[in-house]
Amino acid sequence: MTDHSGQSFDPGAMTLAEKVALCSGYDDWHTETVESVKLPAIEVADGPHGLRKETGVDMVWEPATCFPTLSALGSSWDRDLVRRVGEALGTETRAAGVQVLLGPGINMKRSPLCGRNFEYLSEDPVHAGELATAYVRGVQSRGVGTCLKHFAANNQETLRFWVSAQVDERTLREIYLAAFERVVRQAQPWSVMCSYNRINGVHASQNRWLLTQVLRDEWGYQGVVISDWGAVHDRIAALAAGLDLEMPGTPGAPGEVLDAVSSGMLPESTMDESVRRIAALVRRAGPADPGRVDTQAHHRLAREAAAGCLTLLRNEDGCLPIDRATTGSIAVIGEYAIRPRLQGGGSAGVRPTGVDNPLAELTAAAGDGVCVHFELGYQDPDAVDLAGVDGEVRAPGAAQRDRDPRTDAELIADAVRLAASCDLTVVYAGLPLASETEGHDRDGVELPAGQQALLEALAELDPSATGTRLVVVLCNGSAVTLGAWHDRSSAILHAGLAGQGAGWAVAQVLFGEADPSGRLAETYPHRLADTPAYLNFPGERGQVRYGEGVFIGYRWYDATGIVPRYPFGHGLAYTTFEYSPLSATVVDAEAGTVDLAVTVTNTGSRAGCEVVQFYVGDPVATVRRPVRELKAFEKIRLDPGAACRVSVRLTGRDFAFFDVGAGTWRREAGEYAIEAAASSVDIRARATVRLPAGTASPA
Ligand code: BGC
Repeated sequence: MTDHSGQSFDPGAMTLAEKVALCSGYDDWHTETVESVKLPAIEVADGPHGLRKETGVDMVWEPATCFPTLSALGSSWDRDLVRRVGEALGTETRAAGVQVLLGPGINMKRSPLCGRNFEYLSEDPVHAGELATAYVRGVQSRGVGTCLKHFAANNQETLRFWVSAQVDERTLREIYLAAFERVVRQAQPWSVMCSYNRINGVHASQNRWLLTQVLRDEWGYQGVVISDWGAVHDRIAALAAGLDLEMPGTPGAPGEVLDAVSSGMLPESTMDESVRRIAALVRRAGPADPGRVDTQAHHRLAREAAAGCLTLLRNEDGCLPIDRATTGSIAVIGEYAIRPRLQGGGSAGVRPTGVDNPLAELTAAAGDGVCVHFELGYQDPDAVDLAGVDGEVRAPGAAQRDRDPRTDAELIADAVRLAASCDLTVVYAGLPLASETEGHDRDGVELPAGQQALLEALAELDPSATGTRLVVVLCNGSAVTLGAWHDRSSAILHAGLAGQGAGWAVAQVLFGEADPSGRLAETYPHRLADTPAYLNFPGERGQVRYGEGVFIGYRWYDATGIVPRYPFGHGLAYTTFEYSPLSATVVDAEAGTVDLAVTVTNTGSRAGCEVVQFYVGDPVATVRRPVRELKAFEKIRLDPGAACRVSVRLTGRDFAFFDVGAGTWRREAGEYAIEAAASSVDIRARATVRLPAGTASPA
């Protein structure tokens, strides 16, 4: 069996100074070279939705395919698609001579205000864990590593280096660690990145319970634990806790660690373990493989991936897909139609190889018989120009375009005038880059004021008088609230931050050349005060109390009865599906193994995708448990009239909660509610199973 823990590497041939140096990076992106044992340096680079490799000039990046951000990929619920994106990312990483891609990010979306939500998959650990497993397998199949981040409880940017997440152990185990556990057990990412924050007072980088007891001893993790950049405060405590590689490092071997080992305060065997693991990582990576990237093929994949993420939230009277026969003119409105929002800011900002211009793509898809007109409608001070050269867009933060001299009111008036003269209005709306970036949380969940005013004004156009219908394309990486305009809109397509192919994908879905097959991986609230962490985000006096416990996302809305604007798992297709009764068969009562099956039939007239979601609830329990929790899902595609039997197997753990007193996963005897659903509120079939009590230890 291949040794990924480095046990076959002998650190005895290295000096103590070499060992200490190896455990700290050489510079921002490289590990140390150790000549004596012929250990070359390796290079790491961000991630996660495209390779962000420095050109050699500080903060200037090589072009790379900008795939949909993880928040968008989360909406795909499509393991196969995410794996293929992972493979392409792995190919680009390998070609560039980079050995580890710093992603995926799988922290839970605790609050819609977290500035990095666009980098994360979901509010649910099973969903995030499954898709991240696919991503890791895809990248690593190309001979390069991933770095699962940010471990753990890094759910906000406010005070991110210091804040202490005060979380009870059950909540940690069931929500905040569970996705990490799933990916570690299923895919063994080559590395895991510890987070900046403290957890119950102890920095993640120095948290032995987290990095050694849980991650290694219980979950069997064999790879390297890397610090987030600058997350180490006490190097000796970090090494003792199980952190292998401090990044970025300072060259040489810091005296304090040498002294600690020499004095016996830090056992040399601890250093040796870290050295072995780093050596195994270095030796595992395949050699650079330049010239392997088919940029056009990856752009096509970026388009396909973007299409797979698009989520149709609302579609009144079958407004979409656009019927070319009855739509003579379309008003396209919004700066994001010409200066698209593809991704968020910070370390995840990728310099795309080429960007589809949404307006141009929509015009092309409309064809000769439909006149497409454009109005700006609002201005985003952060928006960057499509450079006009080969469609390439500048990197985030690059030079901005000239401002339109019109006032906001004039922009809105011109947009309304245009919309009133057209059969259909398509508004590209969303959040500015500045509010979706690393290092900052958002201070509200609304769209920018200018866009809200525009949407309200357009919604005032009375369809019966003007015949125009309002379609809104939302380009944002985290939940937003939708104002009064919502009820007067005909359709809302959630595009998210879907990467460089999003312009094409949106046009294809609007005209029905592709299906809207995404489903929300994050609940959309009516207002911020409805959200689970409202009273406890971002905390105070250096602490953030996870007072809502396990009740984040849909678990909160189900438990409180608060009605969300759009629930977790929601998304419409251009067709309809029917579910048969749900069959639930206990295969092994002692182990808690249960087989579920349901037949789904496409009852509409078009092909389409359905995401079949399986939830489990334990209505009578000795601890307060969520009404339902996602335990399995499958995405299927069906032709009109076709049917598919969807089968999944649940295990004992799927029925258990974490019993903190006993330190075990506990399943209580009794009846469990099982649901097959099209969203967390759209339950299509139910069953119950009776199971005896059982336990499973964490290891
Ligand atoms: C971010 C990480 C990133 C690292 C390297 C940190 O600030 O939190 O996600 O991988 O920088 O750029």
